[in-house]
Amino acid sequence: MTFQLDPISYKVLLVDDEENIIRSIARLLMEQDLDMEILSANSGLEGLETLKAHPDVALILSDQRMPGMNGAQFLEQARELVPDAVRMVLTGYADMAATMDAINKGGTSRYLTKPWDDEVLCRTVLEGLEQYRLLQENRTLTALVEKQNLELTEWNGSLKGRVLEQTSTIRRQNEELRTRNQQINKAFRNIIVAFSRLIEQHSTRLQKHTANVTELSVRLANELKLAPEQIETIRTAALLHDVGTIGMAPELLAKPMTAMTSGELQLFLQHGVRGQIAMDEVEELREAGVLVRHHHELYGGEGAPDRLAGEGIPLGSRIIAFADFIDLELSEQRGEAAVAAVLERAKKELGQKLDPALFPLIEPHVRALYLSGAAPPSALVEKELRPKQLMEGMLVTRNLHSSSGLLILAKGTLLDSYRISTVLRHYQIDPPAGGIFVSWSPSGTESGLHNKAVSRRPAEQEDKETEAELQPGHLIEGMRISRNLYSGTGLLLLTEGTVLDDGKIVSLARYYQIDPPAGGIFVSHTRKTR
Ligand SMILES: [Fe+2]
Ligand SMILES: [Fe+2]
Repeated sequence: MTFQLDPISYKVLLVDDEENIIRSIARLLMEQDLDMEILSANSGLEGLETLKAHPDVALILSDQRMPGMNGAQFLEQARELVPDAVRMVLTGYADMAATMDAINKGGTSRYLTKPWDDEVLCRTVLEGLEQYRLLQENRTLTALVEKQNLELTEWNGSLKGRVLEQTSTIRRQNEELRTRNQQINKAFRNIIVAFSRLIEQHSTRLQKHTANVTELSVRLANELKLAPEQIETIRTAALLHDVGTIGMAPELLAKPMTAMTSGELQLFLQHGVRGQIAMDEVEELREAGVLVRHHHELYGGEGAPDRLAGEGIPLGSRIIAFADFIDLELSEQRGEAAVAAVLERAKKELGQKLDPALFPLIEPHVRALYLSGAAPPSALVEKELRPKQLMEGMLVTRNLHSSSGLLILAKGTLLDSYRISTVLRHYQIDPPAGGIFVSWSPSGTESGLHNKAVSRRPAEQEDKETEAELQPGHLIEGMRISRNLYSGTGLLLLTEGTVLDDGKIVSLARYYQIDPPAGGIFVSHTRKTR
């Protein structure tokens, strides 16, 4: 008779003061096909010592009746040393009270009676070992689950960290890409603008033409509430619409279209196609190139190069054609009357040359663009200045050419910071022979020096003020101008009563460099005596 158990080694401790009982039980157990190590002790004390040396004992079978420490007492102490070990007691029928004691105090799970039945004893021991194995297995599995839970928690934590890290990396890379994209787009737009400046420099008639046509076209596109990409395409096309004129004879370009012979006109009108061919080389410019091709089509269908008509002409081309018409008509003249006359002429061309639907939209912008900042010529005073003396808002009064003959600034150009920096660069690389002829008007100085808000003081207070003539470097904020101040060329720079602030002092110092007044600045102290 044999019992089956997993093939692992189990330690079994037999405790009995009778050596022959130990031997016979040991022999019985050894007959089982088990990898079992039998330990033995002849007393409770000896049994406790053995357990200290072998804390991995799986099962203890102890006699109840032993001299000194009985089985219940021994098992009670053994429970402290090896709590997992299955404890059994071997007892006679008469010892029921002691057996109950062993069960209650020693945590004994089974008891066997003397004399024992071999089969019952073997089965009981093997069941005890199985109980021990299950307990250990349960403990191992629980530990494994806890360990895996811990690893899973750590992995989750680190996974979350990695995901967050990768998300932030992707976000950063996206940001970098967007910035680079913006830089590339900006560079691309700047190149187009630079190219349009080249077109302007190619002919005196085209000075500011592309800038004006672009401004007007974009305003019109905005009025039509076109999509941002469409507006950008129209802006690009407007900036480059006359790029095909590069290479044409300057004499031809200097002529108005109405003064050209039919042969000259035919040649001139090729610039739309020439422009498109040039732009077709760059994929990003192809769409704009189509608008450039058709910017001389006429709404009535008699234009070049394809005699398209009405809405068969791309909308962008119709917009640029309208702006082109207005700017060419206004290239020689300015002022309220000229703008009104040109708008009248445009009205007559509606349906023939120009798209009628665009007229009401463009009209207010023509007035805003061509009438703003126009100063009456009589108010202008001309002066030749060095590049560093130029200021925004000054009007160029003579064409400015570089030493190699390139037109840098055309007469009539209003200086802005961009144009001033362009002039400065030209003076470094291809300097003109002299200075820049400019003029500025009293009305143009409103933002700087001229102060209309002059407040007079009561006569009795004025008597107490002291007047002094100062140089620009001695002015301080809060001083009041006591006499009108004129520049060397007679411009009114400061009116009596103006109270000086920092901006006015700086502007005045500049005027002392470029158009100095005859004397100093008369100021009065604002000291009150009553
Ligand atoms: Fe053109
Ligand atoms: Fe044009």
